[in-house]
Amino acid sequence: MKFSKNILCIGAGYVGGPTMTIIALKCPEYKVTVVDINEERIKRWNSDDLPIYEPGLLEAVRVARGRNLFFSTDIPEGIRAADIIFVSVNTPTKTFGHGAGMASDLQHWEKTAHQIVAYSGKPKLIVEKSTLPVRTAEAMERILSENKKNIHFEVVSNPEFLAEGSAVKDLLEPDRVLIGSQQTESGLKAAQVIVDIYAHWVPAGKIITTNLWSAELSKLVANAFLAQRISSINAISALCEKTDADVAEISFAVGSDARIGSRFMKASVGFGGSCFKKDILNLVYICRSYGLNEVADYWEKVITMNDYQQERFVKKIIKEMFNTIVGKKITLLGFAFKANTGDTRESPGIYVAKQLLEERAALVICDPQALENARKDLAGLDHGVTYELDPYRAVEKAQAIAVITEWEVFKKLDFEKVFSVMQKPAFIFDGRNILDHQRLFKIGFNVFPLGKPSLTHF
Ligand code: UDX
Ligand code: ADP
Repeated sequence: MKFSKNILCIGAGYVGGPTMTIIALKCPEYKVTVVDINEERIKRWNSDDLPIYEPGLLEAVRVARGRNLFFSTDIPEGIRAADIIFVSVNTPTKTFGHGAGMASDLQHWEKTAHQIVAYSGKPKLIVEKSTLPVRTAEAMERILSENKKNIHFEVVSNPEFLAEGSAVKDLLEPDRVLIGSQQTESGLKAAQVIVDIYAHWVPAGKIITTNLWSAELSKLVANAFLAQRISSINAISALCEKTDADVAEISFAVGSDARIGSRFMKASVGFGGSCFKKDILNLVYICRSYGLNEVADYWEKVITMNDYQQERFVKKIIKEMFNTIVGKKITLLGFAFKANTGDTRESPGIYVAKQLLEERAALVICDPQALENARKDLAGLDHGVTYELDPYRAVEKAQAIAVITEWEVFKKLDFEKVFSVMQKPAFIFDGRNILDHQRLFKIGFNVFPLGKPSLTHF
């Protein structure tokens, strides 16, 4: 079959994989190829055991794969054939050198730019999908335009706003699609090509076009604002625990103000995920590099508060369990950074597990999707850790449960049964406030919610 356009995506991860699947699903006349250096990942994209878990993703992949959606490791051929290249490689926080712990590590991204130059024989439209520091497109353009072949590459920014666990829904019904381009004739033309892709299923009013720098910065700012809401409510949860106020009641009362809104107001053990911390650090680093120290300090506090919330959670477990947890069996219900994903990047579960292990607790980790990643995260430290898929087996003889992830299955557990197999006194620390605390208390548990009075039998 002859396709009207060849789209390539470099990077078959959490962003590239689902995004290209939906583009292929909705645009059958385009050929969409996703390439990655990781052979194992590509093998899994070509099987029914996808490398990432997202509700609805396998069904969508099955419709488009082999029709107009292809997964491959042949990067040179992919680049040669492409008209449009989405770059969706990982840009983690730098762990070394200048800007370590703050700036984005752009080595994968830069390698990609050089590969594009090396294998291209015709002009191409390059789309930044990875979250990048503002003005990265400028650097990308510089690398691309220094090619000796005199090929024109136009760079546009199309940041991804999908959230893990709801990626398919977010892609099918986005709040908005953002496309930033140079405001030149060729830049505006390039933006229109990307608009045309999304216009297959996204209403015109939801497709926003801006200049390149606004698009890049909007992504960082959106994540900073979302994370700020969580840190704000988490800060209040600490105050609630001192004052007998109830953070859920406060969230409801405050969120009912239409100007504030009710979403992203759930107190938790802390936010995780690959974006929030990384993007805020990135924003902070950029502000500092422009000498805007007050602005940098302001946003950095969102992270400080998130670290504090995780520390507070662990300290509370230790304190309430009579100041020692040596040898005590503690079950973590959940390890993923949020429900409906197996992703554990920056999950508060990692910090909580490491701290509890340091205090020499015997840990059991239970998660419906994240055990494979949990094992990797705790590799070398997990002497004394058991990984258990079945929640009832996970709580056998445990002295305490700590809820880390808000999975539905945990809400629906038979807690009478859970109580009957645990050691007494039995403790529950609900890091997500998802359980029925009064009921648990009546069953006999000592219950420690977040930002609410504790319910104890002592
Ligand atoms: C986020 C953004 O939502 C998305 O737009 C962007 O493209 C990538 O980063 P994601 O990291 O997948 O998506 O998850 P998100 O749903 O935003 O949750 C982030 C963290 O905040 C999770 O750990 C979640 O559990 C936590 N959270 C969220 C809370 O603690 N309380 C809330 O009220 C909401
Ligand atoms: P994200 O959450 O941003 O999608 P992931 O880590 O899930 O990040 O995915 C990024 C993908 O990009 C990984 O599968 C990684 O192997 C791939 N990748 C990194 N560098 C390159 C490269 N130079 N060429 C092709 N793929 C790459």
